[in-house]
Amino acid sequence: MSNFVKISNKIKRFNKSLSIDGDKSLSIRWALLASQSNKKSKASNLLLSEDVINTLNCLKKLGIRVKISKNFCEIVGLGLNGFKYKRNVILNAGNSGTLGRLVLGLLVHSKKKIKLIGDSSLSRRDFLRVIEPLEKFGAKFNSNRGKLPIKIQGTKNTKPIKYFENKGSAQVKSTVMFAALNTQGETIIKAFKSRDHSELLFKYLKLPIKVIKRKKYDIIKVKGGKKIPALNYKIPSDISSAAFFIVLTALSKNSRLKIKNVNINPSRMGLFYILKLMGVRISKSNIKSYKGEKVADLLIKSTSNIKPINCPIKFNSSAIDEFLLIFLVAAKAKGVSYFKNLSELNQKESPRLKWGSKILNKIGIKNIVTESSIKIYGNPNLKINKKIVIKNFLKDHRVFMTSVIASLIFGGDWSIANKNAINTSFPSFLKKIRYLGAKLN
Ligand code: S3P
Repeated sequence: MSNFVKISNKIKRFNKSLSIDGDKSLSIRWALLASQSNKKSKASNLLLSEDVINTLNCLKKLGIRVKISKNFCEIVGLGLNGFKYKRNVILNAGNSGTLGRLVLGLLVHSKKKIKLIGDSSLSRRDFLRVIEPLEKFGAKFNSNRGKLPIKIQGTKNTKPIKYFENKGSAQVKSTVMFAALNTQGETIIKAFKSRDHSELLFKYLKLPIKVIKRKKYDIIKVKGGKKIPALNYKIPSDISSAAFFIVLTALSKNSRLKIKNVNINPSRMGLFYILKLMGVRISKSNIKSYKGEKVADLLIKSTSNIKPINCPIKFNSSAIDEFLLIFLVAAKAKGVSYFKNLSELNQKESPRLKWGSKILNKIGIKNIVTESSIKIYGNPNLKINKKIVIKNFLKDHRVFMTSVIASLIFGGDWSIANKNAINTSFPSFLKKIRYLGAKLN
């Protein structure tokens, strides 16, 4: 049972200030882009979680020099199409969809075959979504019906493409943008809205990119072949990790929390907008721009009257990693909440729409789930007095952390499996939970 966390007490009131680990999306993108420069790039506050360490290990296998001390990291890249590696090299993306997909975008020129593998969760996930556009560039693939393990064989003669990204997936969009960097000519992507860190980094690096913003989609034009300068970057804190503490504070009694220096990129702020509509007291201060991104301190206060929501689908993509937590907020609302067009949630580290429903069932909240929607019948007076066991077979980090937050808010006698899952995205999660006063075994 050592991989279980046991929690049998709600958290007591707290009034504290916290800082959160570095942003995962930015940490992975920083490392992958730094590998494409032939200068030395430096990052501070890099998230040193398994997903990012796997990124650095993949780059090392591709001949890139990487130096880490504490959460500082230096990468000396080999320039565009400069990877140097042995025959039969195997890259292991572990649990990370972002790494597994984006790295393929950088391999469209690879002379020798490269094999990509991942853990059991990643091996269930769809890679056809990136194989299809990368084949248009000219790369060749062998895969297990669109899933890992995958072999990629690039070509010297990549061709720019026109592509419609219709899932609202930043991973697919970024993979195509990375392949475009390595391809002479102009690639044009029409993409439904999704997080725009890659676009902002390309702009900051003065790479030839144009972004035309329309209401429902963006047109992104990238010209390849330009040398990439060094990328020195201080990674801001991850809003998706801060989210656990935002919801814990909002739903606990008489508590307040300040979270410093969080990335508040609007394409990641769905949770903030949804919670505001549900009546949560949350505000930003000390707003600053940083290399195209925006950062701020967040102040969250406990809220007793949570309102139900018919969640506008325009927030789906900017809250995509936060829905398990949003479902807990809906569980505390006075009335019925409805979330729709969320089939992409079942494409994550585990089928998260199903997991959301499972957690709600365990805590006694009526819900009706389909393949793409969920209706949640909230109960503001919910109290749990029973034993709850969460087995989390696919070791999804967000299922583990959401369950911990549920136990601290609603009470009950919980055993939650796979505490090591936090290492993929937020290694200091349990330490921070203890710092706020929670008792865990
Ligand atoms: C990510 C994009 C999202 C998100 C994931 C990180 C990224 O995935 O769920 O955690 O860094 O680009 P999709 O692009 O598949 O929606």
